Amino acid sequence: MPLMPETTTQTIESALGGVLDPELGVDIVELGMVRGIEIDGTAATIHIALTIAACPLRTQIEGDVVRKVIALPGIDSVDVQVTAMTDRQRSELMGIARRNARDTAAPTMVNPMTRVIAVGSGKGGVGKSSISVNLAVAIADTGYRVGLLDADIWGFSIPRMLGITGRRLEAGDDRKIVPMQAAGIQVVSTGLMLDDEQTALMWRGLMLSKALEQFLHDVAWDRDLDYLVIDMPPGTGDIQMALARLLPQAEMVVVTTPQKAAQKVAARVADMARRSFLPVVGVVENMAGFTTDDGTHYDLFGKGGGEELAAELGVPLIGSIPLDPFVVEGGDDGAPVVRAHPDAPSARAVAGVAARILELVPPAADETCTARIAVLMEQLGQDAAG
Ligand SMILES: Nc1ncnc2c1ncn2[C@@H]1O[C@H](COP(=O)(O)OP(=O)(O)O)[C@@H](O)[C@H]1O
Ligand SMILES: [Mg+2]
Repeated sequence: MPLMPETTTQTIESALGGVLDPELGVDIVELGMVRGIEIDGTAATIHIALTIAACPLRTQIEGDVVRKVIALPGIDSVDVQVTAMTDRQRSELMGIARRNARDTAAPTMVNPMTRVIAVGSGKGGVGKSSISVNLAVAIADTGYRVGLLDADIWGFSIPRMLGITGRRLEAGDDRKIVPMQAAGIQVVSTGLMLDDEQTALMWRGLMLSKALEQFLHDVAWDRDLDYLVIDMPPGTGDIQMALARLLPQAEMVVVTTPQKAAQKVAARVADMARRSFLPVVGVVENMAGFTTDDGTHYDLFGKGGGEELAAELGVPLIGSIPLDPFVVEGGDDGAPVVRAHPDAPSARAVAGVAARILELVPPAADETCTARIAVLMEQLGQDAAG
């Protein structure tokens, strides 16, 4: 009779390697969620640390753990002890999950070297689109190649803000959608595709996350883009998850108004971003006060919300953009304020935000060895020529 292989803490750990975190698709051992394994006779106790105590997937993970371990020889009962991870453990887990996503994500048309800045907020009307457009243009004005993806599938406003309504995106030879050139940047938006009611209906039937997937897989984005700015639809959920999955290099800028209520909503977006492993680069406060021509200042939408949110999230306040009729005008006329009125306080503030983002998320090419080698070769070539 063959000897029953003995079940050890090591065999249990191997078995737990087959339990995947359903959200992340990575096994719980690799994620560091297994914090301890004990065997007492035929009883096993497994200590599991979940990312958050109230994790909706808790029952599923617990069930999977029990099924894997009870199947092992000599184990009759399995007790799962659940705790919540510390902040530090959670951030380590995020690192692992992101690395894993990077290794397994189906390649999109976006070059992995392109920095991706998603501009998000909990609700509409806080200025995401205005900021996305002006930020994209401001970064382009510093000499980088920039793309702008309007991921607000139904609430698209980018085409109007760039004055490109009435034109349509077309497919190239490879049947990929060719982004439109406007204001010196590459632009894609459902607003540039919906030429008839039928197409509109088709898009309306698409899940947001599916639409995003199409934009990333079926658009011939310039391989040399330094930055891709994504104007996110308002709210949390699916689309953030999809973005994190499809573009593991994506990072998020959270927009809020100075108001307490807005700040709370924005905090939820940041929380969702973290849970889908989108790092939050920082907070941009918009509609922060209005100064009249005679210098009187009004805090129309409250005060300090951006700073408080940034502190709460432990990220920098990247900038504070004042209320300015030029922003509205620029949006309506298709002439972004950073170009139309570069000296307006709002335009200066956006330029400041762009500069700070270039610092916080520097262009990837600058960091690579190949880029450095290319520069060296170029210098060598010049020396040889001169
Ligand atoms: N700093 C600002 N000053 C004045 N109006 C602004 C400012 N930012 C945005 N707006 C206006 O607020 C409205 C909502 O902005 P929008 O960018 O469309 O927000 P979102 O994309 O978050 O829904 C628009 O009419 C826009 O022109
Ligand atoms: Mg918008």
